[in-house]
Amino acid sequence: MSNAPRYASRIARMKASEIRELLKLIDRPEVISFAGGIPDPELFPAEAAREAYAAALRDPAVALQYGVSEGHAALRAWIAAEMRRDGVPAGPDNILITAGSQQGLDFLGKALLSPGDTVLCEYPTYLGALQAFSAYEPRYDQLRPGGNRTPASYIGRAAKAGGAVKALYLVPDFANPTGLTLGAGERADVLRLAEELGALVIEDAAYRALRFSGVASPSLQALDVAAAGDLERSRVVYLGTFSKTVAPGMRVGWVCAPAALIAKLTLLNQASALHVSSINQIAMLKLVERGYEARIADARTHYRRKREALLDALERYGRGLAWTIPEGGLFSWLTLPEGVDAAKLLERALSEVRVAFVPGAAFHPDGSGTNTLRLSYSLPTTERIEEGVWRLSRLL
Ligand SMILES: Cc1ncc(COP(=O)(O)O)c(C=O)c1O
Repeated sequence: MSNAPRYASRIARMKASEIRELLKLIDRPEVISFAGGIPDPELFPAEAAREAYAAALRDPAVALQYGVSEGHAALRAWIAAEMRRDGVPAGPDNILITAGSQQGLDFLGKALLSPGDTVLCEYPTYLGALQAFSAYEPRYDQLRPGGNRTPASYIGRAAKAGGAVKALYLVPDFANPTGLTLGAGERADVLRLAEELGALVIEDAAYRALRFSGVASPSLQALDVAAAGDLERSRVVYLGTFSKTVAPGMRVGWVCAPAALIAKLTLLNQASALHVSSINQIAMLKLVERGYEARIADARTHYRRKREALLDALERYGRGLAWTIPEGGLFSWLTLPEGVDAAKLLERALSEVRVAFVPGAAFHPDGSGTNTLRLSYSLPTTERIEEGVWRLSRLL
């Protein structure tokens, strides 16, 4: 008899993507990579982090001890104040500290999704959200946020197959992977649709702080709270993170939601990892108490410069291509001429011109979008960004 594990059904749906395997090859210096999508380590506050950890260790009985599953109280209070500045009247009871927003996505999948339930998301959407939710065996359906002339809608195939629409998942600001931001009309429309469906809205705000141009729209949560009159009656769950503004390796993010939902998610956290590392939470608090605004301002300047380099290079060399113009975040989304397969292009780009990117189909739950790709400008220098776009244009 085989002694291979008899996996649960959810495991059958989880597979390493071929693209990820291919992209393991990009760590060579000659490759110009637009694939990464991770923060630029040049921005990491190494010295300040050293001091913050040293300060945290002055009280080892707290920093090195177990903590409560909700998260370090003073950090929750700090985050609640930050949420209030962004138009959401949150208190510490509305905040759960998570190991990055990724863990928040997992907890929400666990709390909300039974097999066969439907999640509405944009096509394309954040791959990590699909990975987190897929363990709970939902169906996906394409959400169209609507806007000025069309109401928000969804295709309805999965929902008609019988699954309840439990959640709408969106990255409203500078989305991964498209770089696009929802306008005010789209935000109102999404909330209207969620209300009609009796579904929760999961607002993934991973890049919200990184705006370089244009005017910020209120978060979906702030809009919904204004309409409902109270955060406790809101149907929006907000996922925040310090990964893009401070340091992803510290793994500190948060969920902001009605207190009753936070209590349920806290139970899941208790069962999963008990809590996020005490010392990381305390060091993060010390880091953000000292100059969070300045750090964000630096990050905005840094990424704005890189975005300009990418957009200038695309203007110069991108004949026949269409691309998005992000007002913040780390990504632009490229559409190739009809019939050009971005996955095949990646193979040739790596071997012939030493450029990497992520083909767009990976971000579509139904595998569509084969002639699209994601470019991240976060890691290469401005010179390498220009060189990379030039190399790609030669190949095309
Ligand atoms: C849209 C989006 N959400 C969530 C995450 C997860 O980030 P973290 O878990 O580090 O907060 C990422 C990371 O790339 C992301 O792009």
